[in-house]
Amino acid sequence: MTFDKKKVVYQIYPKSYKDTTGNGIGDLRGIIEKLPYLAELGIDIIWLNPFYPSPQKDNGYDISDYKAVNPLFGTMADFEEMVVTAKTYGIDFMLDMVFNHCSTEHEWFQKALAGDTYYQDFFILRDQPTDWISKFGGSAWSLFGDTGKYYLHLFDESQADLNWRNPHVREELFKVVNFWRDKGVKGFRFDVINLIGKDEKLVNCPIDDGKPAYTDKPIVHDYLRMMNEASFGQDDDFMTVGEMSSTTIENCILYSAEDRHELSMTFNFHHLKVDYQDGQKWTITDFDFEKLKNLFHNWGEAMSESMGWNALFWNNHDQPRALNRFVDVKNFRQEGATMLAASIHLSRGTPYIYMGEEIGMLDPDYASMSDYVDVESLNAYQIMLDQDKSPAEALEIIKTKSRDNARTPMQWNANNHAGFTTGRPWLKPGQSYKEINVESEKLGHIFPFYQKLIRLRKELPLISEGTYRAAYKDSDSVYAFERSYQKQKLLVINNFYAKEVSLDLPNCYQGGQVLISNYDKVKLADKIVLKPYQTLAILSEDK
Ligand code: GLC
Repeated sequence: MTFDKKKVVYQIYPKSYKDTTGNGIGDLRGIIEKLPYLAELGIDIIWLNPFYPSPQKDNGYDISDYKAVNPLFGTMADFEEMVVTAKTYGIDFMLDMVFNHCSTEHEWFQKALAGDTYYQDFFILRDQPTDWISKFGGSAWSLFGDTGKYYLHLFDESQADLNWRNPHVREELFKVVNFWRDKGVKGFRFDVINLIGKDEKLVNCPIDDGKPAYTDKPIVHDYLRMMNEASFGQDDDFMTVGEMSSTTIENCILYSAEDRHELSMTFNFHHLKVDYQDGQKWTITDFDFEKLKNLFHNWGEAMSESMGWNALFWNNHDQPRALNRFVDVKNFRQEGATMLAASIHLSRGTPYIYMGEEIGMLDPDYASMSDYVDVESLNAYQIMLDQDKSPAEALEIIKTKSRDNARTPMQWNANNHAGFTTGRPWLKPGQSYKEINVESEKLGHIFPFYQKLIRLRKELPLISEGTYRAAYKDSDSVYAFERSYQKQKLLVINNFYAKEVSLDLPNCYQGGQVLISNYDKVKLADKIVLKPYQTLAILSEDK
């Protein structure tokens, strides 16, 4: 059982992709409409964020029915048509499975609240709460109706953690996977899946908000193997990815090694915390290049040596746009966007493109808190005010860090609301849409560069299969690596800064071939000078 390593994933946040009804919310028919665009880009599989019935407290990550389509997004018939139509373009779907928790409006929780003990055992109820802090702020425990007991919610209080120790819970969740498999779905992204293994006896844990008490517990591996065996493991070409919160390399090797029959690959987030001050998200500081480079090298090499597999990404629906975080976008947006793209698309692992990344979309420039919708941002703002930050300071931090930065409507053209809707968008589009949109960018540099990277992965096993080794390890501005496969080698060099940098090129690459670069007229010699945010990949072949 293995998945195709030539494939590239494209993530769609359905609420913000394309609205066809005029209600200001993106929908499944909007995705159908855009399939030709996605085929033109060349991607293979679409990861779709949750579109199931949900009170939308956390934009769909609070699911109240795992086996239906939220009318906000369309109907089951639309879903089926979308899957079948996509296949005619060679595109498959990867669905988001939120199995650590469900909405408190799910019938399981409602029945539990009404006193049904069978369903009470679906949740994690205790007489006394522990000191764990919810990932969205405040205690991770809330009172369970008027029973005097508390239920665990590692996220919002409307997202109750499920009790995976209970075999009935596992059985129900595996049925959900099979329900969507039967509809032709070819992949799953498992939300915060490394948090599902809670101990029988829960204890206080003052370190790191309690994370060590419930993260990456050995039993998670057992649960994943059970799920694999009961569902997607029966298919040959299935692609699964686990979202791993605060995880380790050792665990991700175990989660993704083929012979362990757990998952195809893992997401980790360490590289997206290099601009956190003292590990805290709600702060503003420049990114730490040294940390970023070392993280990429440590993960890249360890996964390569142990046959683990990384999901490679810069952006998703939870992250501010990488362009704003890592690039001088005022002066080098195109160069930065293409360099960031090459730095992961040529690396070892499966690349993920988050909608809009392929046209170099930016964070919106919102003027006030009233523009924000995300529950985490609203909570964080309040907490910062409570901690005596001024409203202006708190807003500045929200502007830099909010998840809404990624969730603004896809910018299709320069028309009203970026061509996303004819109605009133649920979230305001970024102001940049007049210049940065699909129509104009298709004629620009970023979109064609992504097309080429996707094509290269399909053409060269060196890219899809090759090993990973760090290069220019000591550089303070260049992140570089070398891929090897049979007689071929690829050196990928990425300048992460706006200043030129000169490098000595090893002999074997001096007579090599420039596979791709974001600057024209590259001359290979014993010394090369990289331009601002230049990326350069050189192929060398043993004769
Ligand atoms: C994951 C999702 C995020 C969600 C959280 C709780 O981190 O990506 O959007 O809020 O899990 O489900």
